[in-house]
Amino acid sequence: PKLDVRFDVAELVRRVPLFAGLPAERVTTIATLLRAQLALPGETIVRKGDRGDAMFFIASGAVEVLVPNLAEPVKLGTGDFFGEMALLTRQRRNADVRALGYCQLLVLDEKDFRRLVQKDADLRSHIQAVAEARRQPTQSS
Ligand code: CMP
Repeated sequence: PKLDVRFDVAELVRRVPLFAGLPAERVTTIATLLRAQLALPGETIVRKGDRGDAMFFIASGAVEVLVPNLAEPVKLGTGDFFGEMALLTRQRRNADVRALGYCQLLVLDEKDFRRLVQKDADLRSHIQAVAEARRQPTQSS
């Protein structure tokens, strides 16, 4: 069961470096596309093998990514994002992602993701570059 809590989404958006440098009206527009979600400690947010229908930005807190071929989970924190790979490759989720404590997330649904990256080439290439680095077995983030 997902707990829906109201946050000031625009305030949370500014914590994500990817968005922080954007003009205020862009932030406002992006904020309308994002949905705030609170993840509980230990909650599995993304499950390996599932179909991907959204990506997630961490506005506060931390998650661990259980990458199948890595001995240690990869930790992601405030400002990081995850769940982008399934959207970019149209393949299934490649890892479990679990909340390490209470986590304020910003959820971007697939259709909004496609619209956003279609309009913003810089945003698209940034997300793609991060996904590319994560695909390399020696890199962790
Ligand atoms: P996705 O495949 O949609 O769902 C699982 C997510 O875990 C994936 O997108 C990435 O966001 C993230 N992920 C997978 N591998 C790594 C990695 N090596 N380092 C950091 N994050 C990863």
